[in-house]
Amino acid sequence: MKQAAVKPRFIVLDGLDGTGKTTQCTLLAEYLIKSGVKAAVGFEPGGTEAGRRIREILLNSQTSISKETELLLFSADRAEHQVKVASLLELGFWVISDRFLSSTWAYQVRGRSAPIGLFEAVLPYTIKQYPDLTIILDLEAESAVQRSLLRLKAEGKEIAEGRFESEKSSFFQKTREGFLEYAANRQYGETIIINAAQTIEEVSEQIIDAVRERFL
Ligand code: TYD
Repeated sequence: MKQAAVKPRFIVLDGLDGTGKTTQCTLLAEYLIKSGVKAAVGFEPGGTEAGRRIREILLNSQTSISKETELLLFSADRAEHQVKVASLLELGFWVISDRFLSSTWAYQVRGRSAPIGLFEAVLPYTIKQYPDLTIILDLEAESAVQRSLLRLKAEGKEIAEGRFESEKSSFFQKTREGFLEYAANRQYGETIIINAAQTIEEVSEQIIDAVRERFL
């Protein structure tokens, strides 16, 4: 590793529920720390004090909200998380975020057909720092949702956090396409896709290689 003054980076891992993002965020952070850089993992929605409350509204399966409100609440959660991300970067930490703007594009704009104008309008007010790299973990929609549902059931969180998992498979199909489209457009920073239908070790190796070849 080129040790001299490595600039702290903001890296996003995103993808459908059940693609293994959270595990991969931890593995990447562990690798970075072993490589001698300071690293922190954040997440959306809910990675801040106010965000935790916003998350409860967003994920509760008994709460009905319009697609516009949904987009705005995810954006509000992100605005709070961005303050935290910016201060961590300032302190020299690399920040790995479990989900970011790519999720809002995929789930709200493509999955729910929320207005693109609304998505774009809030960006200048909510985003301080665009990612240096976004990594989309791609998995066939059906298997991703099955994995996610099994985990929610095992944790007893179907009602408290199951609002998205209760959607039809066509919703997740549109959402998956939204992620692929976001990656192809590269409008909000470099975005790459990794096939999540591999072992945890294989996916981790590809993520680490992508980060190492660009930034270390
Ligand atoms: P998350 O906590 O990452 O759930 P999981 O660990 O099950 O993947 O995210 C919760 C849900 O929020 C998930 O179904 C995706 C959704 N979401 C959006 O719809 N838009 C967004 O902008 C974000 C950040 C998340």
